[in-house]
Amino acid sequence: MNLLAIRDLSTEQINQILNRASFFLKSKTIPPSLENKFVAHLFFEQSTRTRFSFEIATHRLGAQPLIFDETFSSMKKGETIYDTLKMLEAMGVHAAVIRHSDENLWNDLLGRLNLSLINAGTGKKDHPTQALLDALTLQEHFGKVEGLTVAIIGDLLHSRVAHSNIECLGKLKAQVLLSGPAEWIIKEPLPAHVKKVSVDEAFSQADAVMMLRIQKERHTSSQTDQDYLQQFGLNENRLKRMKPHAVFMHPGPFNREVEIESSLVENSRSLIFKQVTHGVFIRMAVLEMCLKGPA
Ligand code: CP
Repeated sequence: MNLLAIRDLSTEQINQILNRASFFLKSKTIPPSLENKFVAHLFFEQSTRTRFSFEIATHRLGAQPLIFDETFSSMKKGETIYDTLKMLEAMGVHAAVIRHSDENLWNDLLGRLNLSLINAGTGKKDHPTQALLDALTLQEHFGKVEGLTVAIIGDLLHSRVAHSNIECLGKLKAQVLLSGPAEWIIKEPLPAHVKKVSVDEAFSQADAVMMLRIQKERHTSSQTDQDYLQQFGLNENRLKRMKPHAVFMHPGPFNREVEIESSLVENSRSLIFKQVTHGVFIRMAVLEMCLKGPA
């Protein structure tokens, strides 16, 4: 099985992944269910959280991670990504975890390979395991995702995290509020569970606020970092105006004093480090589902 996008998963499959990840999170010992499997990790864009958590997840399930370095690969001699994966398949690799700038990468690969393809973040559209770990974080904190109001604030247009979260939160029956600079608001028609609001409404109405990184590598903007924190970022004043029970999240990497005031990163209402922890367990559940089917 592949995992390329949240829209390919049913609500039942999402809940299976969340339940399995929750089981891993609470287990003292984890059975090596993927012993004798090989998982190639191909990252064509920078990553810290996704890359290392997939590597740890691979080890924790007893599988062997194979780390691909494009710089020293035969792709530098002109080999395509399809041919690279075909070679890995021929060597007996069972799954490929791929991060890439092109969200349409899969069009050239699907139906032509006999290994599982797992999306570790592509282009501006899809980051399914981030949305799943965010859902696990909300579920662990609030007990359930259904009925929550989640605000996603910032560079929505260029954010694969935002797009995947909109899809995932909809499937789990949460409401989504979107806010940020006008030029970065999603232009296409939005599903019924999503509403565009002002930044003040987003902060004051949400049970959880997700701050987004400005995706500077994907656009040019005249907005200065200083203006941004003032106008759209999470600062002490905005935290005071959030509901007393409300929490905040950030997929990372976060820019202190841009999307978030530095003193708040480790605040008791920050779920940022829980998100990172949960990333390992979600990626274990995803690897297991893709390589073995539902637990
Ligand atoms: N959230 C996220 O994808 O972080 P990395 O780019 O560090 O993997």
